[in-house]
Amino acid sequence: MRYIITKSMLCSILLLLPILGIAQTESKGLHDYYQNYFPIGAAVSHRSLTGQEANLILKHFNSITPENAMKMGPIHPQEDRYFWDDADAIVNFAQANHLKVRGHNLCWHEQTPSWIFKDKNSSTVSKAELLKRLKDHITQVVTRYKGKIYAWDVVNEAIADDSLTLLRNTPWLQICGEEFIAKAFEYAHEADPNARLFYNDYNTERPEKRERVYKLLKKLVDAHVPIHGVGLQGHWSIYEPTENELRTTISKFSSLGLEVQITELDVSIYPWEKNKRDKKSQESDAFTPSLEQKQIDLYTTVFKIFREYKNEITGITFWNISDKHTWLDSYPVKGRKNYPLLFDQNLKPKKVYWEVVKF
Ligand code: GLA
Repeated sequence: MRYIITKSMLCSILLLLPILGIAQTESKGLHDYYQNYFPIGAAVSHRSLTGQEANLILKHFNSITPENAMKMGPIHPQEDRYFWDDADAIVNFAQANHLKVRGHNLCWHEQTPSWIFKDKNSSTVSKAELLKRLKDHITQVVTRYKGKIYAWDVVNEAIADDSLTLLRNTPWLQICGEEFIAKAFEYAHEADPNARLFYNDYNTERPEKRERVYKLLKKLVDAHVPIHGVGLQGHWSIYEPTENELRTTISKFSSLGLEVQITELDVSIYPWEKNKRDKKSQESDAFTPSLEQKQIDLYTTVFKIFREYKNEITGITFWNISDKHTWLDSYPVKGRKNYPLLFDQNLKPKKVYWEVVKF
């Protein structure tokens, strides 16, 4: 028997595909859906730049951030030695494939080499010497990638965890006082006047931390420090932030004239505070349908807000590519699996992905 498909039948089939959930648009990647909004990025290591993971990056993202390769410890392990290989590989991959790069980060209290705070006799260096070292470091790194990195997280997580204190008590603060923050921005701006410079932090939607971050940002802006934006890390969970917390944060920071980016987005299936327990909990680490639905709800809500604030938001970056590998897999509960991203362990779009691109 012969079947004849007429032109009108073909049209009806094509019209039915999206209704049946069959993606006519599968060739589109996440960044295509958001092309009129903001770049969509992912944190990568040089190891993810080949094979299936590279294909996933190229299909869905138009921006990348080195997860670790540009942090001070990995890239500048000794005073007179830089290790460029991994960072170069990431920047070269981006250049070859026309991806944007967000540099991360120039000054932090973690993954910082211990040599930077000590002189030859293992005594603490002076403020003048530490600022000189910071300047040398920032100048070398920013100059090397000038014109190839459009935005830098200059200072990361300088606000204290303790709500009664403004700044985190780190060797940077102890040795230099709070001036190190403004200086880091000045050094970066001198090295690449075209780069967009960000202050980056976590829990920025929680009201009390938001107020302290705001206080710091306002001081910097009022002092005409060359800061252009604030990075909300976005290490969220299915329980937070609320719509109101997120809206207030974006509005409040952008009222300072700063651009806002979500720089390290993931949505943990565990409440953050509970995460602080250091033993594996009794609960199973299965990704149940009810947890999955909660994650869909949170992601759907925050992306709806991101789209509403497209004039204030200039980038969204996920922290890692898929649930196959996420820093939350063993942090802070060793051995506990997490499922915080839009792609599953086989690098396939999860249900939540289809909700995030449905608008
Ligand atoms: C912070 C840092 C990131 C990364 C994450 C955890 O948010 O900014 O570079 O180290 O912690 O992976």
